[in-house]
Amino acid sequence: MVPLCVRALVLTVVVSALRHYEDDLAHEDVADVVKDQFAELSLNWTRPLTPRLHPEARAELQRKRGESMIQMEKGCKPSKFRAMGKKLGEGAYAAVYKVEGKSQSYAMKVPHEGDAEADEAAEHEIEVMSAAKEHHCQHVLPLIEKNPCINGTKHINAIVTKLLPFDFDKWQKDYKVPSKCYQRVFDALRDGLDCMHGSGYMHGDLKPDNILFEDFDDDGCPTGVQLADFGISRKLSSLEGKFDGAYFMGSWHLPGTVFTRVEDPLKLSKGKSFFTPDRRIDECSFALLMFRFFKRRVSSIVKDVGKGACGPMGPGRKLMMP
Ligand SMILES: Nc1ncnc2c1ncn2[C@@H]1O[C@H](COP(=O)(O)OP(=O)(O)OP(=O)(O)O)[C@@H](O)[C@H]1O
Ligand SMILES: [Mg+2]
Repeated sequence: MVPLCVRALVLTVVVSALRHYEDDLAHEDVADVVKDQFAELSLNWTRPLTPRLHPEARAELQRKRGESMIQMEKGCKPSKFRAMGKKLGEGAYAAVYKVEGKSQSYAMKVPHEGDAEADEAAEHEIEVMSAAKEHHCQHVLPLIEKNPCINGTKHINAIVTKLLPFDFDKWQKDYKVPSKCYQRVFDALRDGLDCMHGSGYMHGDLKPDNILFEDFDDDGCPTGVQLADFGISRKLSSLEGKFDGAYFMGSWHLPGTVFTRVEDPLKLSKGKSFFTPDRRIDECSFALLMFRFFKRRVSSIVKDVGKGACGPMGPGRKLMMP
């Protein structure tokens, strides 16, 4: 007999996961939205998509969060940073701006206004970054300040981090990727992922534009590599809702495990709508990324998760099997 408190806990987790995600075969309109986004993408280099909630689920979340969604509070002191207005990048959940500190520039990530899912992702990101910081992770972007005071206004759920001018998406698009960088890149990402996993989280969105770096060394290889963007990072071994299957094709860096209506190659599904976050989900994204950048399979990952276990992945989903 399962004790009442355990049953209540499981029920709370399930209800909360259901609140966040929907497994609904009737949601054809999501497929249409996603299909439209792909209409102009080239299959040679597509920027992988971070999956989002179904619009209805997002609206429901918005209703639930309601009044707590105030983004700014006036009159904070002291203002440690000044806004520069320059946008450094933008993703599914947030925009990133350059801000000026006492003696150097920083990056400030601000969740999209009026977007409850982005606010949740930001709160979650703060939790993950704090855990990684406690573990002294060398290759995970550390949190410098949460809810910062900028020009006298407190920005709730914004975060300030070190400014890193390059990311792997830019590297592949605008520069040459020398094959001699393989080991250096592998070591940095391996350490970043191991440290995140050691802090109790899976990254869950490991793709080129979420890997930032400081500069290039004399061989043209990235230096100061750090994993970033923990909006959909999940606690290892928890019970989590899947994303809608319509996002599977666009999120080619993620195995089918985290989507509804798709075969789960890693066998981490709990029923149709839930899965258990596991470091092997990151291993698959890691293997795919190394294959994409260096045309090489990572034998240690193949040995660990099994050949073909991470597939089918890639644009067209059958083209790239790590
Ligand atoms: N610390 C930083 N320094 C410089 N640029 C950054 C920094 N953090 C993020 N960026 C830029 O902003 C972009 C968006 O940031 P981030 O990936 O964190 O947001 P997101 O909305 O969660 O993205 P996604 O669509 O991947 O979920 C990055 O791809 C990068 O180009
Ligand atoms: Mg990103």
